[in-house]
Amino acid sequence: MKLVPLTPDYELTPFDCGDSDLNEFLFNDAKKAQELRIANTFILEDDGRIAAYFCLLNDRISRNEITSSRWKKIKASFPVSKQFRSYPCIKVGRFAVSLNFRGQNVGTWLMDNLKERLNAGQNQSAFRYITVDAYLSAIPFYEKNGFKALTKKEEDEHTRLMFFDMMDVL
Ligand SMILES: CC(C)(COP(=O)(O)OP(=O)(O)OC[C@H]1O[C@@H](n2cnc3c(N)ncnc32)[C@H](O)[C@@H]1OP(=O)(O)O)[C@@H](O)C(=O)NCCC(=O)NCCS
Repeated sequence: MKLVPLTPDYELTPFDCGDSDLNEFLFNDAKKAQELRIANTFILEDDGRIAAYFCLLNDRISRNEITSSRWKKIKASFPVSKQFRSYPCIKVGRFAVSLNFRGQNVGTWLMDNLKERLNAGQNQSAFRYITVDAYLSAIPFYEKNGFKALTKKEEDEHTRLMFFDMMDVL
């Protein structure tokens, strides 16, 4: 398997993750989002087929947007002189595994690989956390991959904001 960045001339092959919004984003919006500099897409290829894709963009965790109990824990992990109103993050804007590769640990492998790449990254802007607006159905997947909730269940009926602390990269 090979992870490659989406480029303007990349020829997309069929991809179906079972979710029409995520499928359509890849075919209709991903290149435009890249051109507009609002999200970069990366594709996991297997023998010419698209096994998975995800997007990255910059984000922040700020105290107004998350539960106060979570904010207290986050704040407590910084020395007093570094207790700010927000902390820098990288957001996984979209994350999808093809139905053909589902349940074979491809998602977990890709998430581990992403954490390693981000952790090893040189010359990049600092960030402390990875965030994701997790589909409610995918919450168990993110929990298994070390993500924790930042918002309450009741706040959104479709997604839940979750985070991973880069200090937990092993
Ligand atoms: C969520 C998704 C990325 C997981 O990818 P995957 O390669 O199938 O996941 P893995 O094989 O690495 O699964 C790891 C664990 O996550 C959990 N999991 C995976 N997919 C799940 C799903 N759809 N619902 C609930 N739990 C899931 C399982 O507990 C699994 O552990 P197990 O193997 O011990 O049972 C994939 O199901 C997907 O693309 N779904 C549709 C799009 C989507 O929901 N994307 C997330 C948007 S925020």
